[in-house]
Amino acid sequence: MKKIFAVVLALVLALTLVACGGGAATETEAEGAKQVGVCIYQFNDNFMTLYRQELESYMSGLGDYEITIVDGKNDMAEQTNQVDTFIAQGVDVLIVNLVQSSSAATITERAQAADIPVVYINREPSSEDMAAWDKICYVGADARQSGTFQGEIVAELPDQGDADGDGVVRYVMIMGDPENVDAQYRTEYSIKALTDAGIEVECLFEQRGDWDQTKGQELAATALSQFDNIDVIFCNNDAMALGAYQAIVAAGKVDADGKLDGIYLLGVDALDECVEMVANGQMTGTVLNDHVGQSHVAVDCAIRYMNGETNETLNVVDYQKVTV
Ligand code: GAL
Repeated sequence: MKKIFAVVLALVLALTLVACGGGAATETEAEGAKQVGVCIYQFNDNFMTLYRQELESYMSGLGDYEITIVDGKNDMAEQTNQVDTFIAQGVDVLIVNLVQSSSAATITERAQAADIPVVYINREPSSEDMAAWDKICYVGADARQSGTFQGEIVAELPDQGDADGDGVVRYVMIMGDPENVDAQYRTEYSIKALTDAGIEVECLFEQRGDWDQTKGQELAATALSQFDNIDVIFCNNDAMALGAYQAIVAAGKVDADGKLDGIYLLGVDALDECVEMVANGQMTGTVLNDHVGQSHVAVDCAIRYMNGETNETLNVVDYQKVTV
């Protein structure tokens, strides 16, 4: 009931602003600053932290934009309230990293009612949801590509990932939040790249670590204590790979220099510390998830909307393999 009231209130406020030409909006226009509302699914996420910092600094350098960035705290109800608040404030555009991709329709409906365009980032809504309105677009990367690159890095190793030489690549999969296509596709396509290369595989362990370093560490520790024949640990992102590396060290599967010994470890994102670990032999490889490219494209799309222009529905930035 409280929620319905809040929604109605937000809509009434938004419509009032539209109908009256908007006192607040007019003042902002007079000052020349356009208002940009940015919703991040969770501030406590290594990759999205780099992303939002780059987004803010790039956009601030392009003109007089009033950018407000809010933390959804991984709670969809909280994020919906934040969107309602932005709408009530009469922002000129929204940039939204959804907590739940499946909630895109709800967010689009609210934004459309107030005629505020939305740039969705990082968590891709379904194609059906993206077809709902011509003032929404998505900026991200094709997660299939990152999974394929992880698998190819392994397939390109001299032993094709078969660290113990028994003819089968036995792996552990530490997944991100499975509601997220990034987690689904990376899990599927990393293994597909191996089987496409004719490599025999066996999944020993697959669990969700929700993109989180501590969970990555705990899951890898559990897997390492249950199985002594793991060839490869695939993590859907680098934060979880950082945790998995700690577990690998604790399990003694490193040499005196901390290099991986008899096991391979893969991540995605190319966080600075992971790129360094790859160079030091502490990780086998990672995949650059280009937060700079993605945040710039997202800002460019937002600015085009504020200028009354249109955007392509899907705007995809490439991943890159990192192996040295
Ligand atoms: C992925 C990224 C993860 C995490 C996730 C959040 O693209 O690889 O590290 O940030 O987005 O949705």
